[in-house]
Amino acid sequence: MKRSLSMILMIVAAFALVLAGCGAKEKTSSGSEPSAGEDGKKVYKVGTEATFAPFESLDDKGNVVGIDVDILQAIADEMGFEVEWQNIGWEPVFQTIKNGETDIGASGITINEKRKESFDFTEPYYESQLLIVVKEDSKIKSLAELKDKKISVQINATGHEAAKKLQGESSTNILAFENQPIAIQEMLNGNVDAAIGDNAVVYEYIKAHPNEKLKVIEDDAFEKEYYGFMVQKGNTELLNLLNEGLKKIKENGKLKEITGTEFKEKK
Ligand code: ARG
Repeated sequence: MKRSLSMILMIVAAFALVLAGCGAKEKTSSGSEPSAGEDGKKVYKVGTEATFAPFESLDDKGNVVGIDVDILQAIADEMGFEVEWQNIGWEPVFQTIKNGETDIGASGITINEKRKESFDFTEPYYESQLLIVVKEDSKIKSLAELKDKKISVQINATGHEAAKKLQGESSTNILAFENQPIAIQEMLNGNVDAAIGDNAVVYEYIKAHPNEKLKVIEDDAFEKEYYGFMVQKGNTELLNLLNEGLKKIKENGKLKEITGTEFKEKK
């Protein structure tokens, strides 16, 4: 009797070891080694911040939907892989690519030199520009006029960079928030004079909030920006896969169909 009990214990212990082994494997497979989905297709984890319609937002079932989702799905279909979306917040999009918890950052991310030091980006797929949002009765007409004004932005987004360029790195007149809708809301609440955000997203916000009395100011002092998908630095295999798929959907008209605009290649 005693013997069989210790046998059982041994078997249980062996099982626990096997299970622990599986768990550990699951963890390391997340970054550069994606897990396999149905029909053995690779499944890449995609990180995003889904309050950025029309690029990414949540539908009423909690699914991430939008232009970025459609573009990446079209690429995945072309290249034969699968994607799993995770709405994790803006700064975690960058952190989780770095530590390998996600494979692709897809979040209306502007490609720029600073980010390229730490990440790799696909070819661009969308042209964008920042703009200023103020209350309808505001007298502000240009970026230069925001020099001494209070500005709200999304933290560590390009709008935040633009505000710091104008007012200095440590300006206390810049209020940085988790996402773009909150930054606009702060301006509507009267806590700041103006918000800075990505044009297509601001226009979509205005469309979704027709009763808010808002006005936008476009200013060519803002440089043109280009969105790309982001991967871990040095993950050339995934980068090439994404670029090849992107090239295909640029050529076959699918990208234009999704975004509604012809993508003008960057000069
Ligand atoms: N294009 C801007 C940037 O890259 C803002 C992107 C914010 N995206 C989002 N899904 N919240 O900094």
